Amino acid sequence: MCGIFGYIGTSKRAGSMILEGLKMLEYRGYDSWGVAIKKDDGSLYIEKHIGKIGTASLPSFPAHIGIGHTRWATHGGVTNENAHPHTDCTKKIAIVHNGIVENFEDLKSDLKKKGHTFKSETDSEVIAHLIEELNKSESDLVKVMQKLRSHITGLNAVIAFFPEDESFYIIKNGSPIVAGKGEKEYFIASDASAIIPHTKQVYFLEDNEMIELSKDGIRLFNKKAIVQKVAFTTLEYTAKSAEKGTFAHFMLKEISEQPTILRNIIDSQKTEIKKAADKIKNAYGTYLIGCGTASYACLAGTYLFSKIALRHINFAIGSEFSYLHDFLKENSLVFALSQSGETIDIISSVKKAKEKKAQLLSLTNSQGSSLYRMSDHNLLLHAGPEKAVASTKAYTAKISFLYLIAHQLAGTFEKGRFNLLKAVDEISQIIQNKTSIKSLAAKMKDHKSIFILGRGVSYAAALESALKIKEVSYIHAEGFAAGELKHGVIALIEKGTPVILFNPEDETYEDTLSAAHEVRARGAHVIGVSSKNDKVYDTFIEVANCGNATIIPNVVIAQLLGYFLALEKGLDPDKPRNLAKSVTVK
Ligand code: F6R
Repeated sequence: MCGIFGYIGTSKRAGSMILEGLKMLEYRGYDSWGVAIKKDDGSLYIEKHIGKIGTASLPSFPAHIGIGHTRWATHGGVTNENAHPHTDCTKKIAIVHNGIVENFEDLKSDLKKKGHTFKSETDSEVIAHLIEELNKSESDLVKVMQKLRSHITGLNAVIAFFPEDESFYIIKNGSPIVAGKGEKEYFIASDASAIIPHTKQVYFLEDNEMIELSKDGIRLFNKKAIVQKVAFTTLEYTAKSAEKGTFAHFMLKEISEQPTILRNIIDSQKTEIKKAADKIKNAYGTYLIGCGTASYACLAGTYLFSKIALRHINFAIGSEFSYLHDFLKENSLVFALSQSGETIDIISSVKKAKEKKAQLLSLTNSQGSSLYRMSDHNLLLHAGPEKAVASTKAYTAKISFLYLIAHQLAGTFEKGRFNLLKAVDEISQIIQNKTSIKSLAAKMKDHKSIFILGRGVSYAAALESALKIKEVSYIHAEGFAAGELKHGVIALIEKGTPVILFNPEDETYEDTLSAAHEVRARGAHVIGVSSKNDKVYDTFIEVANCGNATIIPNVVIAQLLGYFLALEKGLDPDKPRNLAKSVTVK
């Protein structure tokens, strides 16, 4: 959460590069944004705004060094004063920060007693004043920054900018940060996608590392000493894949990319899938963990492994796994799913699992991410950058991997491949013929609640579908196991309440149909999603039977429904309120 960007180099276009960088990082938080840039005339230019960056531009002036920030508020409301960058009392230090300084209240009251004046309610501002204070008795900025690190607690990434010296110090503990190296220039960003338009040479900082950037170049320090050489690596993806192109929104672009991504997984990932299946086969027990959409993919995984491979795989929500890991052993396998590879609830759980010497297999979309670097074995989703806050293509890519791994374990890979290809053809059709879903959204937009029901693996799909609809349309949407509704929640059904039923022709079919009758008897508007129509449905959406892979087209319908509901309500589906992609705070 929060995006930070820095530029130092020989270009005179620091301002526009920083702003472009922030636009790329805005998915990480869009409560406010701001920049601090040293103009070539020697003055420090600070500009801050609340709200999204949109098409904002900065006044044009030559500059070759500066920092920027896009905020997801944690401490302190959404105000100009709370927007980053923050400065010290002398305005000789400007900082941008991602994370939470957990002990900021103590530090703040101490600094106030020492005469520092605070302008914001944020935890971040203490960093600028603390650097100022430490610099009074220590002129070596490396030592100042090392002391700063030992004073602040929590998971943080900071760029401290010293305009007079024209230097940056970047420290990291927990929150992600990456440095990029171009021709006589360096970039710093929360995420490599903002650096890729300039260079593919990147270095992902590890916890407790610090980078100094100045006119003398780059120096990397670990906890104790200077590291002789910074080992930059070359990233594979292109800047183009992170652009919206002709699509109105990233969400629609990413929904539309799914057939290609899934076909690519089927065609190119067989070796990786086999390796992952072997890890699971040889493990004492496997624990799938993920948060949000990834958690619903994990839940679907437990059904898929059970049904296809006759294998019990455990599942825990990422943020809960820390309280559930006591049983892990050396040969346990933790299988972590995370699009960003940076979700803090996953990272902290995984750290605990590693302390118990469990093996870590990860499935992430982000090569070089924290999770990727921590893992013993990696699978990459190869879904390309996911920019819309609501995850779509990463979800179906995760399901495709889990589905094929389960078939590999069962020795039925070819059958899995066949059904998955059928599901891919089906989603191509759904995406091409999306106008019917658009019309449905127009009818549903004024309802206060939507329920989505399914049994078995379709229950996992119902949970993900409800999340997709609620997060972008703000309509209360709930997914339920179709058999559970009558145990209480059916009380919420009113005349006209839309109830979507995922009803594939599998062993759940007849029982799910009973649920359809039960809600219809209470006045619900029943929307059946199935390969077989029934008179109980008020609206029928036909989806081919693709075996257990049918959850993929089912969820794609919900993705499109969520997207069109957001448009009907005049909302921005790419940046829903209160959310940010890549949740790096607890
Ligand atoms: C919902 C959504 C979130 C993420 C969750 C985990 O559409 O995107 O629920 O799935 O924050 O993110 P990753 O997969 O990056 O760990």
